[in-house]
This record gives sequence, structure tokens and C-alpha cells, in this order.
Amino acid sequence: MSETADRGHWGSRLGFLLACAGSAVGLGNIWKFPYIAGENGGGAFVLIYLVCIFFVGIPIMICEFAIGRSTHSSPVKAFGELSGGSKGWIGAGILSVAAAFVLLSFYSVVAGWAMHYVYLSVTGFGGATGAEAIGGIFGEVFSSTKGNLFWHFAFIAMTTGIVLGGVQAGIERASRILMPTLFIMLFILLAKAVTMPGFGKAVTFVFYPDLSKLSSAGILEALGHSFFTLSLGMGSMMTYGSYLKDDFDIVRSSFVISVLDTAVALLACLIMYPIIFSFGMDPQAGPGLVFKSMPIVFAQMPFGMPLATLFFVLLTFAALSSAISLLEPVTAYMIDNRGWSRVKATLIPAAAIFLFGVPSALSGDILSGYHLVGEKTFFDTMDFLVSNIMMPLAGLFIAVFVGYRMDIEIVKKEFASGKPLNKLFSVWFFMVKYVCPVAVTAVFIHVITK
Ligand code: PFF
Repeated sequence: MSETADRGHWGSRLGFLLACAGSAVGLGNIWKFPYIAGENGGGAFVLIYLVCIFFVGIPIMICEFAIGRSTHSSPVKAFGELSGGSKGWIGAGILSVAAAFVLLSFYSVVAGWAMHYVYLSVTGFGGATGAEAIGGIFGEVFSSTKGNLFWHFAFIAMTTGIVLGGVQAGIERASRILMPTLFIMLFILLAKAVTMPGFGKAVTFVFYPDLSKLSSAGILEALGHSFFTLSLGMGSMMTYGSYLKDDFDIVRSSFVISVLDTAVALLACLIMYPIIFSFGMDPQAGPGLVFKSMPIVFAQMPFGMPLATLFFVLLTFAALSSAISLLEPVTAYMIDNRGWSRVKATLIPAAAIFLFGVPSALSGDILSGYHLVGEKTFFDTMDFLVSNIMMPLAGLFIAVFVGYRMDIEIVKKEFASGKPLNKLFSVWFFMVKYVCPVAVTAVFIHVITK
């Protein structure tokens, strides 16, 4: 066991659960889920998404915790130790850490937009009135070089500040503040949404599955998103699991974290759709849904600006607790594999991630004409690379590793977490060996051939 002062461990079970929930709940829940559910017909997509979370997401999360906890090491070292030093499996660990590095570099740009919108809400959107003027602000935000660089820097700086504090004083403490605040903010906004005329329509849209609206592309998108939203394939859950004591039930934790994450995604829909329907807007507005439609709607509501501020602070907080879980695997790698101090292992990767994110921050403006692959800007290419290639591949490797390569006795010990092994084990192991690899391969083939 490699337990050094710089590595750390959780102070309490609740702290661990909040940190993992913080990792899972992020832009994926509040920014992405409502718009992809909207684009894919609502209820039917939600249903398939729930199935994916349950049968693929949760089993893989348990795998990540098992790999991390059994070695108390960051992903690269963990794969190395458990595979007896196999270079191929160490490569799988490196893939996860690299995915976290690349994801954070552009996740921070989107989180920067959320921070920019906090500023804009506080200042009343620069006095803009009317749907067109307010909706048009997103175009300005998106293509502002100075703005994007500034907010990208500010967001990485906040993330770095927390990770510098270490596992307990940094990540755990921040999660204890961010997560409950996030829930309170969600419920305040929900209380508002419930009173709106479009609430009934929103409930039907989210919960009534019209299966005729479902396409095979929608099913695969649901599966891909279940990975992203549960923070799988990036070493985040593996690293968080490595700070865990041996008797903590990782199976129950995976359920709790996934239920919380799903609840937030559904709540986000129940907050945004009533507002959108009440004002006659379209839920299929795509990635601009949060940034374009919501401010237009807030501007027409009584107390709209304080509510808008609350909403974008919520988005920023959610992004921040996810971002720390992306920097931490890189930091843990430097501590475990390179023997760096936490300060050095945080500052140097954070600076590198900031720099690597600069072309993404500039993709809406001076680099908008620079296409790395096909029609894709640098930002779009990084997004495609992480979400569609690195993440599913790493997920596949994790399932195959636990299903076929890891010592079965260690796997059983981790699953049982100090208690007698229960019947659920064989169901889970079946999922890991057969269902997860097939499902993830299907997504992979779909996205690279589309
Ligand atoms: N789960 C986060 C979200 O839904 O926004 C994104 C994320 C964080 C993905 C951490 C992967 C990860 F390792």
C-alpha cells in the first residue's frame, strides 16, 4: 500500500459520498442532459438512460472503486500492480489519466461560460432587453477571446486551489459545502418551476415514454451519456476509491451516488422545461438551451435576475466539484508515480491543463476557422476525442480488466467490503464480463462510424 502524507484518505464516509456525488453531478446533468433529452424526445430517452445507468454505469463504477481501493493507488499504478506490471494495462491507466487531462482542459471553458453568466446576471445582462438581444449574448460570450481566456483561467485557478488542499482539507471540505448548497439551490428553483403553467407539460415530457420517438442513435447517446454523467473512464472514481478504507461498502455507495446523480439530472429537467414551456420556447434548442433560452426566460420573470444568478452559480458549483475530480487523478499520478509533493503535483499539471485548454478557449473566435479534423474546431475535436473515443475505450478496458484479468479473489474481497459475499455478486460479475463490454463496444463502433 502506498500511503504517503501527500496521498491522503477520506475523513468520513459522508465526505467520500459527497465528493463522488460532486464528481458525478456537473455540467453533464444541468447543461447537457436537459438538451439531449429534449433532442431525443424526452420520456423515452429518460427511460433508456435509466436502464443504462443501472445495468452498465453502476457495474463499471463498482469496478473503478474496486481497482482503486484494492491498491490504494492512482489509476496508472493500480493497473500496473494488479496486472503484474503489464505494459498494456499500464497503458489503460495512462489512457484514463490522459482523458481526465484533456476533458478538464475544455470542461473548464464551458464552466467559464457559466461563471461569465454569473457576472452577466449580477449586472443585469448589460441592460439588454428583448429575447433577441439576450439570446444574442451567448454568441458574444462564446466568441470573446479575452472573456474566454479570463474565465478559463479563473475556473482552473479555483479548481487548483481546492486540489492543493489535499483530499480531506481540500476536496472533502469543498464537497461538504458545494453539494448541500447545490441541493438547496435546486430546490429553490424547483419551488419556482412548480408554480409555472408549463409544469404539467414538463412532467409529461420527462416521464411519459413515447417509445416511437426513440432511435438507435438515441439509445447509444443515452449509454454514452450515462458514462459521462457518472464520471467513468477518467480515473476519477478510481482515484477517489483509492482514498477509501477497506470496510466501506462500495456497492451501496455506487447506488447512492448514481441515484443522487440521476435525481439531479431529472430535477434539472423539471426546473428548466416548465420555464421553457411556459414561455413557449423549444426544448430542442441544443447546447445553447441553458445559456440562450434560460436568460431570455429569466429576463421575463419577476425576480428574474436574482434567480438567474442563483441558477448560474449552481451551474458553476456543479462544474467545480466535477473539475476537482478531473485534476485529482493527474495530481495523484504525479504523487504516486513520480514522487512529487502535492503542491508540485497540483500546480504543474494545472498549468499544463490551462495551456492545453487555450486553443479550446479560442475556438469560438480567432481559432474558429482552424479545423483540426474535418469540420471540427479544436474544442469540438477534443470533445469528440474524450467523449467518443477515450472514455468508452477506457470504460471497456476497465470492464475487461475486472472481468477477465484481475485476481478473482481480490475482486470478490472488494465487492464484499469486509462482509460475506452476497448473491448480487454473480449478477454484477455477469454484467461486467458480458453486458458492459458488448454495450460499450456498440457505442464505440457507432460513434466512430457515424
Ligand atoms: N460527471 C461530470 C458531469 O456530468 O458533468 C463530468 C465528468 C467529471 C466526467 C469527471 C468524468 C469525470 F471523470
